Amino acid sequence: MTQDEMKQAVAKAAIEYIEAGTIVGVGTGSTANFFIDELAKIKHKIDGTVASSEASAERLKGHGIEVFDLNSVSEIAVYVDGADESNKFLHLIKGGGGALTREKIVAAASKKFICIADESKLVDVMGKFPLPIEVIPMARSLVAREIIKQIGGEPVLREGFTTDNGNIILDVHNLEIMEPTRIEQILNNITGVVTNGLFAIKPATVLLLGTQDGVKTIT
Ligand code: A5P
Repeated sequence: MTQDEMKQAVAKAAIEYIEAGTIVGVGTGSTANFFIDELAKIKHKIDGTVASSEASAERLKGHGIEVFDLNSVSEIAVYVDGADESNKFLHLIKGGGGALTREKIVAAASKKFICIADESKLVDVMGKFPLPIEVIPMARSLVAREIIKQIGGEPVLREGFTTDNGNIILDVHNLEIMEPTRIEQILNNITGVVTNGLFAIKPATVLLLGTQDGVKTIT
């Protein structure tokens, strides 16, 4: 099976978690795109969606799926999204596509977070994938210095990229994240940080992992 076939398999498997008559939270990235295409097949059964990025909103609308503003929705039953890394505790690194802030907001508003990923994303220790941090532009240098002082690593500006919220991304290289929850808390407390890409304080509920032997469900 190719990586894309594994992504497609987990996207299909995630449909099982969608309940009729509910609002679905939709993530961002290539795996989430496969999920959007699967969701289109059952669009008449759901009440609509909340998207975690402009790109996903466009793809959903392209399929004729309704996209609501989060402020007009009282509850999201399930959020489905990919990840850049996951450990076996379902702590995640997200934000490779730069949508981490809206992803964390939609995940926070959802009762369940179904993470969909191919097997390359499961790691023992997180940090090989550079950790994305969304930062208010004027705080770029301050935040970079504080990151080095407080958690180490090498923050690198994502060149030529602006988030959907008008901010910049620092990708922190060379980390070995042994305590994801603690690192997430430390980063949350740095002034100028909007969101960090660790999803450990509120991890995924379920990880659907695409492998050569089929889809594995990790809880
Ligand atoms: C988007 O900002 C990210 O959090 C994505 O969910 C993550 O990068 C996974 O993307 P792929 O499914 O394309 O690997």
